[in-house]
Amino acid sequence: MELEAVAKSYARWAPVYDRTFGAVTHAGRRRATGFANAVGGTVLEVGVGTGLALPFYAAHMKVTGIDFSEDMLAKAQEKVAAQKLGHVKELRQMDARELDFPDASFDSVCAMHILSVVPEPERVMTEMARVCKPGGHVLVVNHFAAEGKGFMARLERAAAPLSDLLGWHSDFSRARILGDARLELVEEDGLPPMGMMTYLRLRRRD
Ligand SMILES: C[S@@+](CC[C@H](N)C(=O)[O-])C[C@H]1O[C@@H](n2cnc3c(N)ncnc32)[C@H](O)[C@@H]1O
Repeated sequence: MELEAVAKSYARWAPVYDRTFGAVTHAGRRRATGFANAVGGTVLEVGVGTGLALPFYAAHMKVTGIDFSEDMLAKAQEKVAAQKLGHVKELRQMDARELDFPDASFDSVCAMHILSVVPEPERVMTEMARVCKPGGHVLVVNHFAAEGKGFMARLERAAAPLSDLLGWHSDFSRARILGDARLELVEEDGLPPMGMMTYLRLRRRD
């Protein structure tokens, strides 16, 4: 999706997101934040959206969130204030393709349900690898295209032209985000609902 389409689509999604897509996709948020909490230190959440994962980070964490959509970010700000989430240090409007942070800034970098939304996901992975500390982890949760000729694969291909309307690409290939040599895939798991989401843990090489 182009950035203009992202802004338009997520202005529509923001008021209903937590009660729809957001409500059935907590497993991935729990999984990624659980790992980040165990590591501790600093975490960057890329595409923080309405901030559904923010309450899942432990109080000892220092959390920074970025998102391109002002409407989604406003919802995240409301959660931080209403739930007094003191571990959230900063929420900023930013394009994930050009992260405004120095190299090796964060112990963990999370990207949940965003890589099939952003334009140029390869560039976003490069940026996440850059700002992650060597030895740290990039944690990805996403839906990836079903392979082959089955019903799901055909359905995803049929829905592909609707990406601007849906807010994401239904036929997004896993291979597109595994090309950065600094990131080593160390864990992969299917997640609810119905195994539609995948959790990937990538270690930033030293
Ligand atoms: C499906 S939502 C996921 C939100 C959140 N991570 C979650 O799990 O609920 C995708 C988010 O990616 C954001 N996004 C899309 N392209 C972006 C970009 N280039 N830079 C930053 N955020 C972007 C959208 O604004 C939206 O909030």
